[in-house]
Amino acid sequence: MRQQLESLVEELKRLKQSGVSTVSVAESSMEGLRQAVAKLSVGEGMSSERTAPLMEEQQVSHTLHARVKTADEANAIFQKVSDSTKNEASAKRTTASSLSHDFLPKEVILPEGSKQEQWEYLRDLVLNCEVCNKHKHDGCKVVFGVGNIDADIFFCGEAPGEEEERKGEPFVGAAGNLLTKIIKAMGLTREEVYIGNIMNWRPETGKRYGNRPPTAEEMAFCLPYLRAQVEVVKPKLIVALGATAAKGLLGAEAVPSMGKVRGKWQMFGETPVMPTYHPSYLLRNESMRIKRTVWEDMLQAMERAELPISEKQKNYFRE
Ligand code: URA
Repeated sequence: MRQQLESLVEELKRLKQSGVSTVSVAESSMEGLRQAVAKLSVGEGMSSERTAPLMEEQQVSHTLHARVKTADEANAIFQKVSDSTKNEASAKRTTASSLSHDFLPKEVILPEGSKQEQWEYLRDLVLNCEVCNKHKHDGCKVVFGVGNIDADIFFCGEAPGEEEERKGEPFVGAAGNLLTKIIKAMGLTREEVYIGNIMNWRPETGKRYGNRPPTAEEMAFCLPYLRAQVEVVKPKLIVALGATAAKGLLGAEAVPSMGKVRGKWQMFGETPVMPTYHPSYLLRNESMRIKRTVWEDMLQAMERAELPISEKQKNYFRE
């Protein structure tokens, strides 16, 4: 029980970092939480009278800074929940049936076994994920990462587009073709790197064409799946493609703008992250300067991955 509460706190913390300010929880889930806290308090001498009123709020804000380790900590956490909920009194109160509840992230626990077994377990988990399947477009596929599970470089994009959701593979449309060229210019192939996305489905637009960026809640829901892929692959580094990927990985607060973080090493847990522009941005901006900027980021990635870099490669896109 304690472990589940710890996981919930961790995910709420991640949600906050990725820019979500409010999470709506169904009454049935609130009841479950109340009971969990009550059990914890009974087991560890914390007064359930104190915790019960704290859980009365329909909205659980994730201004949580600690993990549930002791009764006191648990109490403090739920006090913070209550306080922040009061502070956010003006925040809109959505009903229990609102979408948000759908996007309550779940913990992913990898089974014991080889990398391949863990990756296959994860792929099955994601492809059969109820929420992913519920929100994907009709007749389209949930999209999981592809490539080498021993890769040194993990490219992380935003979300599948039309082509990707049809084929069930990340980066296979126009932006994907450009990414493949970038990978080739680095002296690698798609099969030698790992390619994934923050999101596992194409965010619903209600239309067949056009994309929209995922919401913070959608990204936070998928993040445990991405984190688990990173845990399996254990790359030397992640290349975050575009602002949405950077925000999803690093949290919205850490990415005020792409200009602030691009080309500067960041961390996703223990893994270094190189944020750079998304290939679609390159497709829209054909300037040599932008191409060179992205290439300089890739040179940094190559250096960190200890890939050989030729003189020719060093001089690509120099005007
Ligand atoms: N853009 C992304 O960010 N990911 C894809 O898979 C395709 C396009």
